[in-house]
Amino acid sequence: MKRLISFLFCVAVFMLCAGAERETKNQKEMNRFIENLMKQMTLEEKIGQLSQCSGEFATGPDNHRISRTEEISQGLIGSMLNVSGAEKTRRMQEAAMQSRLKIPLIFGQDVIHGFRTGFPIPLAEAASFDLKAIEQSARCAAIEASAAGLHWTFAPMVDISWDARWGRVLEGAGEDPYYGSLVAQARVRGFQGNDLSANNTIMACVKHFAAYGAPAAGKDYNSVDMSMGHFANFYMPPYQAALEAGAATFMSAFNDFNNQPSTGNSFLLRHLLKGEWGFKGFVVSDWGSVQEMISHRYARDEREAALKGITAGLDMEMVSECYRHNLAQLVADGTIDEELIDDAVRRILVKKYELGLFEDPFRYCDVEREKKITHSQPLREASRHMAERSIVLLKNEQNILPLSPDIKSVALIGPLSKSQKDMCGAWSCADPSRVITLYEAMQQRGVTINYSEGYDLESDEIVDLPHTLAQINRSDVVVIAMGEEAWESGEMRSKADINIPAGQQQLVEEIVKTGKPVVVLMMCGRPVIFNTIREKAPAILCTWWLSSEAGPAICNVLWGDYNPSGKLPMTFPQHIGQIPLYYQYKSTGRPAGQDVWCTKYIDQSDQPAYPFGYGLSYTRFDYSNLRIEKSSEEGVYANVLVDVTNTGRYDGEEVVQFYVRDEYASITRPVKELRGFEKIALKRGETRTVKFPVTDKQLGFYDNQMNYVVEPGDFTFMVGPNSQEVQSVLFTL
Ligand code: NOJ
Repeated sequence: MKRLISFLFCVAVFMLCAGAERETKNQKEMNRFIENLMKQMTLEEKIGQLSQCSGEFATGPDNHRISRTEEISQGLIGSMLNVSGAEKTRRMQEAAMQSRLKIPLIFGQDVIHGFRTGFPIPLAEAASFDLKAIEQSARCAAIEASAAGLHWTFAPMVDISWDARWGRVLEGAGEDPYYGSLVAQARVRGFQGNDLSANNTIMACVKHFAAYGAPAAGKDYNSVDMSMGHFANFYMPPYQAALEAGAATFMSAFNDFNNQPSTGNSFLLRHLLKGEWGFKGFVVSDWGSVQEMISHRYARDEREAALKGITAGLDMEMVSECYRHNLAQLVADGTIDEELIDDAVRRILVKKYELGLFEDPFRYCDVEREKKITHSQPLREASRHMAERSIVLLKNEQNILPLSPDIKSVALIGPLSKSQKDMCGAWSCADPSRVITLYEAMQQRGVTINYSEGYDLESDEIVDLPHTLAQINRSDVVVIAMGEEAWESGEMRSKADINIPAGQQQLVEEIVKTGKPVVVLMMCGRPVIFNTIREKAPAILCTWWLSSEAGPAICNVLWGDYNPSGKLPMTFPQHIGQIPLYYQYKSTGRPAGQDVWCTKYIDQSDQPAYPFGYGLSYTRFDYSNLRIEKSSEEGVYANVLVDVTNTGRYDGEEVVQFYVRDEYASITRPVKELRGFEKIALKRGETRTVKFPVTDKQLGFYDNQMNYVVEPGDFTFMVGPNSQEVQSVLFTL
């Protein structure tokens, strides 16, 4: 018998219970306050609350950088982005306090990975599979950003992506919806804490709703077209998870989805997000995306764009001014009901109230606190902690790593080892002058460095090879820093070719010929292709861009003060033509690998360079005794257990991964899906039994009507150190 768990029903029950609990005295007071305030507001003032303007710097096109002070003091602007600093935000807030009703501004910014103290790019953090550390990273960002007067970050980006050509994979948690959901929740918790009104928490903004990570051909902003069943199973879960974690706001995506721009997409915003999911916060557009509905040819002019936005459930317009110029007229001529605007205004005022801004509009503008917190030591330590855990060991032949403490001289090759700016990565608020590079960190360690530039990032040519070889000759070991520059991944940084340039790869080939031990550090903002290096270099670490503490973290891993434990949150392809490449592909009528007439290429392998979940350690972990045990716990069908033993020479951490395949189902299902993991620390020689409870969450999926269902039948449970090397056991429900 098929058990159907109505997704709608669950959400309704959840909302009812939560609603009842929240009907507190405070809430009643808040509602009374807001209703009273709204009664006093003119239509113009209400529309002002829906308008967000950009301040001193631009994070998008067509930014008219004009002073907004006058409009703010007339109550015609509800929020500013890209203004920060306790002093500056105070000055603007003072202008808002000149307005008739003294409604405070909200200040928002893209606080994506750390603030003034930079943390690793989000994709790197995701490689840690350490949810506590990820939450802590967001917490630190919130502490530092709130001290600079900010109330709101446009993060986390929870867009799943299977396409490394898309430059914004850097901002997300990679390719997996189950893991992506947990990371999304950790980040929301980190930013928001338990109390939005505390002066060290900020509102999260879940973005980009929806499916922005699946643009056709990996081109940023491009159209997204997918079936609802596909959306529900692979792209939707992290948005929903972030909402469940209490995310205060959402951002609509630039892309069209199911033939309508997300910003004017009633199905996404009104039906799904605010309707079925019961989202009570507000939705902000992306930069200019209300107006961009005209370029999408979905709206004839700004008036129609405003109409489509407000009707769809888009509450606040970022930067473009379709709402400001058209909503009043739309109400006046009876095209829309003022109640539509009231609903949006109410949602925004509720957040201002919850932030404590009506109580004290200057709560976050404390210059002394800002001085004390910005760049403070605990933040740097947390950044290093996160950075160490983000590094992924991809190859370690002959146990070249960790470097012996006796190694005193290093040939350090490559300009990235000296680049502060590139370590910050894209979407960084960090101060590059405070980044400790690899070069500096090695100096601080007292290592003799024989540096050579090795290759030129601009021209992609090997430079002065004889000098490089001479430097290598007088060194015990070679460390080569290579990969991408910071500008190469991020928004608007889609690439048709994600190969590491040939010059860098040839250089490694030349250096390996010297016979010296060689370690390659791959610094990148996305999965990249480096087949020559993969083949020739004996040791490779993927270090991404780790920001402020990049150098010390890399050194700690090189010399084994920290044993690497990261795992790839995205599949690394061997060939650009394999993209989109992901581990959770489906069986076809002619499944891959069976015989010549199967789903494969005639000119390239189907295999990735490194699969999802892959990453080595300086020690070894053996998996044994995979078994299923019955469970008497309510809602738990069984427990899957496995013994993991550290059989190597070092203490270390392992991410034990649990995958599930639904053998036969009413819709086609992937060959495997991550449905659990645990990061464990094992001393050398130690064994631990890891247990994965099997509940509806592990077994279910969304059918084509977007109902979450669990279908009894056969399942294969798989456990292992990555998505490919798994042991399996059968289970029947
Ligand atoms: C455009 C980006 O898509 C979005 O993620 C960001 O938050 C806004 N610009 C504001 O900078």
